[in-house]
Amino acid sequence: MSLALAKRLEAVQPSVTLAMNARAAALRATGVDVFAFGVGEPDFEPPPFVIDAVKRVLEKGGVSKYTAVTGIAPLKQAICDRVERTRGFRPTPDMVTVSVGAKHALFNLAVALFEPGDEVVLPAPCWVSYPEQVRMMGATPVLVPTDDVSGWRVTAAQLEAAITPKTKAVLLCTPSNPTGAAYSEAEMRALCEVLRRHDVWIIVDEIYSELVYDGLAHASPAVLAPDLLPRIVLVDGVSKTYAMTGWRIGWSIAPSHLAKALDTVQGQSTTNPTAVAQHAALAAITGPQDEVVKMRATFEQRRNAMIAGLNGLPGISCRTPEGAFYAFADCRGLYGIDFNGKPIANDEDVAFWLLEKAHVASVPGGAFGAPGHVRFSYATSEERIAAGIAAIGRAIESASRTAKKG
Ligand SMILES: Cc1ncc(COP(=O)(O)O)c(C=O)c1O
Repeated sequence: MSLALAKRLEAVQPSVTLAMNARAAALRATGVDVFAFGVGEPDFEPPPFVIDAVKRVLEKGGVSKYTAVTGIAPLKQAICDRVERTRGFRPTPDMVTVSVGAKHALFNLAVALFEPGDEVVLPAPCWVSYPEQVRMMGATPVLVPTDDVSGWRVTAAQLEAAITPKTKAVLLCTPSNPTGAAYSEAEMRALCEVLRRHDVWIIVDEIYSELVYDGLAHASPAVLAPDLLPRIVLVDGVSKTYAMTGWRIGWSIAPSHLAKALDTVQGQSTTNPTAVAQHAALAAITGPQDEVVKMRATFEQRRNAMIAGLNGLPGISCRTPEGAFYAFADCRGLYGIDFNGKPIANDEDVAFWLLEKAHVASVPGGAFGAPGHVRFSYATSEERIAAGIAAIGRAIESASRTAKKG
């Protein structure tokens, strides 16, 4: 008999952001006004008609029972309509699995597809959960590094080189968390050209697809390479588009035989996502989309303010991201600043220093596989962005004055 934890967890990294969050919470508890540049969720409320629809549904009743495991029929229909409108093909409802957020949709996919011996290709830096979910299944994440010179985008040649006979899937995220980088149509076509030659699953995390700026179109493999649809899985949800992270509704669109496996996985774990939350998601995606357009315009302005602000600071530089709500800044110019008697030597030091000295929360890039960088979220008002940038400026200024005196 053994009380040991499962071996599969040994390969899984605990979240490095937890310590940061704990410190930020501790500062807040003492009354410090911390700039929330670390968060990965919109600061807006969902469109008001979503809340009204929820009230109506609650008053009417009938949302306190289990639903079908993969979601209520009207929501699955609405998701199919939306995919047809935005991606040019019409999935059948049996291809849709509604889950407890996009993260859960990705986890279901990992359970259904990945096993020891499999490799999963992940352009890096990437969202922290991708490699960990792969590792949890005993499979191997193959991180393909990108940099700001290449616009944080993997090239066709890099992708080709990363795929081996063991590759089970390639997971693309556009626009990306943490870099905000989005592929152009030409770049995505080139990646699809490579993927056409290899029999691998193509998982596309499109959770930020409504948040692309400068008039750029979202480049979806489902649109650009419809011949690959038998191997494409689209992952999306209401969290970022409708500012509904807490409602926990996401979904995958997968070929029917894979969707059937996802039904089995979900049926033996969570069963259906919360009924009332499914109604909220239904209202969000079937209602008027003007709020989405407004939020996108606001995010674009905030992006411009954040990037200009960061690039105006000594020791920090940041390329302009095409989408999402993250600025992924090179912070190596801050290395060497004294932090409690020791020189700043890495991105984690930078993030903790920013928190202590400027009261700015952020996420160190190492967490995403790109040390030397810090992720700043601009899901906060322009006033807060300006004030946070000014606070960082003062911290840098004061550090350089102290250094000169020393
Ligand atoms: C790239 C990416 N995919 C998926 C998710 C998860 O979204 P959800 O809230 O729907 O689980 C996030 C959330 O931060 C994300 O950044």
